[in-house]
Amino acid sequence: MPEREPIAVIGTGYVGLVTAAGFAELGSEVWCIDIDEDKIAMLRRGEVPIYEPGLDEVLARHRGRLHFSTDLGEALDHARLLFVAVGTPPTPSGDADLGAVHAVVAAMPASDHHALVMKSTVPVGTGNAIKRVFREQGKDQFRYVSCPEFLKEGTALDDFLRPDRVVIGDEGDWAGDAVDELYAPLGAPIVRTDIPSAEMVKLAANAFLATKISFINEIANVCEVTGADVVEVARGIGLDDRIGPKFLQAGIGFGGSCFPKDVSALKQLAGNSGYHFQLLAAVLEVNELQKRRVVGKLQQHLGNLVGKRIALLGLAFKPDTDDMREASSLVLSARLQAEGAQVVAFDPIAEAEARKRVTGVEFARSALDCVRDADALVLVTEWREFKELEWRDVAEAMAGTLVVDGRNALDAEAIQSAGLRYEGIGRTPRVPLVA
Ligand code: UDX
Repeated sequence: MPEREPIAVIGTGYVGLVTAAGFAELGSEVWCIDIDEDKIAMLRRGEVPIYEPGLDEVLARHRGRLHFSTDLGEALDHARLLFVAVGTPPTPSGDADLGAVHAVVAAMPASDHHALVMKSTVPVGTGNAIKRVFREQGKDQFRYVSCPEFLKEGTALDDFLRPDRVVIGDEGDWAGDAVDELYAPLGAPIVRTDIPSAEMVKLAANAFLATKISFINEIANVCEVTGADVVEVARGIGLDDRIGPKFLQAGIGFGGSCFPKDVSALKQLAGNSGYHFQLLAAVLEVNELQKRRVVGKLQQHLGNLVGKRIALLGLAFKPDTDDMREASSLVLSARLQAEGAQVVAFDPIAEAEARKRVTGVEFARSALDCVRDADALVLVTEWREFKELEWRDVAEAMAGTLVVDGRNALDAEAIQSAGLRYEGIGRTPRVPLVA
């Protein structure tokens, strides 16, 4: 087997570490660079600063091939390809903050045998702007490739090793070919295109998926007033090949580090060029309202929420991650407290992250502990252990009987036969509007 190209990864967050682990698994030596000395020290000790299933094992298995440093010079000495995986968080205007990306660009020397490979999600036009900066600084020979990442938290390593496609945007030079070769062993379709198109693929993919979720959430809301069941509706439309069954799970809205940020970045990007992206404005608005709908459901059943004890099962933005960024639980717990409710929560993994972001919430030590004496329970994150709860024990522990399934993930029949009241999202037939 020919020797694999060594690479560098700048930024050791979710995307950076998974990229490093994935390429190490494929046989590359990887130099991981971060400005955060504590993080690098942790990684050197073999500790993984984030929760991602399987990541610690892969990193441990390839310790010999993985090098962690705060010194960019080491990366430049050993690798031609520098994968950039730094954060691009949203700014108050909805634009992406490219401060960290520009810092990396500024740190690059004049070189005719290096390339930046952009994994961070950036606005369309960023690649060309960076190339302009390189030209202005006399670094014309520094190459640039856009190679967006489509990994999902919780299944990130699998997504890296079994991607639906790999997108490579470049100018047809050695760097694009080298990235192409790195990914070739995965056997995935490779979309080789120009830089702006590759950048747009990433934003458009996330915007489309988020649109699918807001769409099914609105269908769910209409189901509630017309007496249909959104789970049945999703099954019925999902079997149409043109629609597909994925991302049609109605619930209390999408969160995470990508969808909210990338949808508003694309909307803002369009707006900056004078185009009002109406559809995406609605996608975001629907999502914000969806996070709050549970409050209305609780009020409908319990009346005034002052002094009511509400148990939240799950806090992370989705299962199998400790990520709390833009989690629906943040809005929900704040809204409940604003209504005077007493909020108690349990998350099997995300408690430490949650403690940094929520205030006034009591943390329970287990699911059963959480529901004890609660007037109502809300499933916020569909962790497996919540789906496997013994509902008779839950019924016994609770003071009230209401279970709001915010993810349509629980067994409604089992809940009802334990003597509890089940309320899903878009599932409870009400008095139809049209008699
Ligand atoms: C997403 C994209 O899937 C990934 O390709 C991109 O690289 C980063 O953003 P991620 O944020 O990890 O990945 O999570 P994902 O599994 O896509 O879920 C995003 C949010 O949508 C979660 O809050 C989830 O609960 C919600 N969701 C997802 C729904 O509400 N309904 C669905 O049917 C699917």
